[in-house]
Amino acid sequence: MNPPIIDIERLVGELQQLATISDCPEPPPAVTRVVFTETDLRARDYLRSLYEAAGLAVRVDAIGNTFARWEGSEPSLGAVGTGSHCDAIPHAGLYDGTVGVLGGLEAIRALQAAGFQPRRSIEVVMFTSEEPTRFGVGCTGSRLMSGAMSPADLVKLTDEVGDDYDTVRKRAGFSGDLASAKLPNGYYEAFVELHIEQGPELEANDLAIGVVTAIAAPAQADFTVTGEGGHAGAVLMPRRRDALIASAAMVSAIDSVARASKSPDMVATVGKLEVHPGAVNSIPSRVRFTLDLRDIDGANRDAVLKEIEDEVDRIAVERGVKVEHRILNADPPAISDKNVVSAAVSAAESLNLGYQEMISRAYHDSLFMARVAPMGMIFIPCRGGVSHRPDEYSSPEAIAAGVQALALTLASLAG
Ligand code: GLV
Ligand code: MN
Ligand code: MN
Ligand code: MN
Repeated sequence: MNPPIIDIERLVGELQQLATISDCPEPPPAVTRVVFTETDLRARDYLRSLYEAAGLAVRVDAIGNTFARWEGSEPSLGAVGTGSHCDAIPHAGLYDGTVGVLGGLEAIRALQAAGFQPRRSIEVVMFTSEEPTRFGVGCTGSRLMSGAMSPADLVKLTDEVGDDYDTVRKRAGFSGDLASAKLPNGYYEAFVELHIEQGPELEANDLAIGVVTAIAAPAQADFTVTGEGGHAGAVLMPRRRDALIASAAMVSAIDSVARASKSPDMVATVGKLEVHPGAVNSIPSRVRFTLDLRDIDGANRDAVLKEIEDEVDRIAVERGVKVEHRILNADPPAISDKNVVSAAVSAAESLNLGYQEMISRAYHDSLFMARVAPMGMIFIPCRGGVSHRPDEYSSPEAIAAGVQALALTLASLAG
């Protein structure tokens, strides 16, 4: 088929409009949008208005995953899914996730305008809470949809003020049996997510499209270190069991263990550290810090996680503090489906877009969708590889190219 025409001004306008729905104290492009807040709900209302204007049928499941469906000529066949997330970590940019949701919608609108008639239905999904901001675990919507997490485990998650997932979900207006969110077998014939790369490779190689062949295995854990507090003037150094000094040694050890790993894809990040009581003249008695650990090699990720836990225990003994570990998730990697990969490659080729096959080092809802559907992802470049920052940026040209490639991929998969 002819290249579908993307209304990039409309799409960029919608991305910018969505970015104004934010809790970040700074104006856009800085964005904060945390799951089940008033702001998240307003963003969902905005999306619904766009879906309805495009004539799509909207369905919301028990956890708030939102499906906007363009009915195919054979609606009983497995559908072709696309989509991503609209939640944004604190002080994020405006493209992470949103390009896949609004870009998925634009791909459908472009196919509609081109007079394309899909045989299989095409759906844009907006997954609830890809980011782990509120409940410590990311991708709760796709975990539930794919059966990667059971409702019983989901409702054990709590937010920072101690409210459990179910209470927060219901307060936000999402009721219904969580078990019903699990997709029936064969619901999707294929699932393909458009996303900004969040890394520097495509820009460095001057390529428009990345076709993802695998998604790295993510794990998250937290550690609580308990020492002994006291007066910053009165307790002499030999007597101290400072929880922060012990934590500093642990954080440094985490970095060293990751750097020494045999895998070049191993990355470890401590992104959050809470110090109690957090007073200038008080010795820290308790510290909680997080760990984010990823590798494309799942077995190596597990081995490094074990090594980190052993190091943390060793340092705790050395420093006379106690440490508790909690592994929040340790997911396997996902491999893209070869037919979805080849549909995306053909789309890029027919559009004369330079492309490469590549690994996704960030995780996405597609990591879990791969468990219930043949999965693939299309990446577009972002400036400097920057993401999870307000200066995250993909140009209108880059977005338009990605949406065109997505539209052709969806058309080919939907028949
Ligand atoms: C989620 O956005 C992640 O890859 O950290
Ligand atoms: Mn993100
Ligand atoms: Mn994302
Ligand atoms: Mn992500």
